Amino acid sequence: MARILTGIQSTGTPHLGNVLGAIRPAIELAKDSTDESFLFIADLHSLTQIKDGAELRANTYSVAAAWLACGLDTNKTVFYRQSDVPQCTELAWYLSCFYPYSRLALAHSFKDKADRLEDVNAGLFAYPMLMAADILAYDANQVPVGKDQLQHLEMARDVAGRINNKVGREVLIEPEALTNAATMYVPGTDGAKMSKSKGNILDPFADAKSLKKAINKQIVTDATPLEDPKDPDGSVVHQLYQLVASESDAADMATKLRAGGYGWGHAKKDLLEALVDGFAQERDTYNRYMADLPALDAELSKGADKARVVAQATMGRLREALGY
Ligand code: ADP
Ligand code: TRP
Repeated sequence: MARILTGIQSTGTPHLGNVLGAIRPAIELAKDSTDESFLFIADLHSLTQIKDGAELRANTYSVAAAWLACGLDTNKTVFYRQSDVPQCTELAWYLSCFYPYSRLALAHSFKDKADRLEDVNAGLFAYPMLMAADILAYDANQVPVGKDQLQHLEMARDVAGRINNKVGREVLIEPEALTNAATMYVPGTDGAKMSKSKGNILDPFADAKSLKKAINKQIVTDATPLEDPKDPDGSVVHQLYQLVASESDAADMATKLRAGGYGWGHAKKDLLEALVDGFAQERDTYNRYMADLPALDAELSKGADKARVVAQATMGRLREALGY
């Protein structure tokens, strides 16, 4: 049985792209799997960017609530906050002492910002070592990540290999990256990839009024008159509708658009309804958790208790091997 582990950034409320492209597929995968899975909110990584405590806390809660609302089963998946396992930061120090400065300087996460060094804190520079610690502390075998994280994964393998080599035995497990081949592409309200940095998101957990405002204001449509035929394929409204409505409803909308007499306003209304109804249950659960933070804390603590036991065992092995 393999141990699968991955970390999720906590830099805001998950949007429709995160939910359809990352959260739902991961939950579906965990459901059918006999592997053991660990999933954590990388709130220590967030500190490289976010220095406001209230914002940091709120982000962690909304990410946790979103995963739970989408059906994450915490009896099957060890679900926790990174910051609840201090062994991870301790491990990051040991790893840092075995990893060459010159290699860290090659990390894209740092190199991309190296021309603005005044914006780079030492935490950001050492980011790959904290990420390696997240993985190595739990003896993870497989780590599902996006392509942008492959270099970090390579560094995790590299540093584990260096330590194993030095101490002459396998104290750390070298993890493998799992890249999800066909990830879904969710367009934003402007047609570009939905991303929180682009201000083109739809929040499926938002109430009907806010969703209506986002759909009506953000999605730009052409000025084809109501009665004229329209091309569904080039339209963001229809693309988004296809992703959230049933196949037959999506086909129905395409037929109506092509036939004419059905305007973009109608299509937006149908999209709104599909989002409001389609995520009704998830929205309820999300709101319930956000209104009961102790319940959310209890779920995360349950995971942290399990995670700490595993990390503690790894640390015992490593500390002993290193001479402590
Ligand atoms: P953002 O681009 O909003 O910052 P992240 O980079 O934090 O989102 O992505 C978190 C996860 O959600 C990743 O697994 C990513 O592949 C997925 N994801 C993000 N945006 C989309 C999108 N528009 N369509 C499909 N998946 C997405
Ligand atoms: N750096 C990852 C990202 O930006 C998040 C992350 C932190 C992670 N620690 C991890 C992913 C460990 C996998 C394993 O998406």
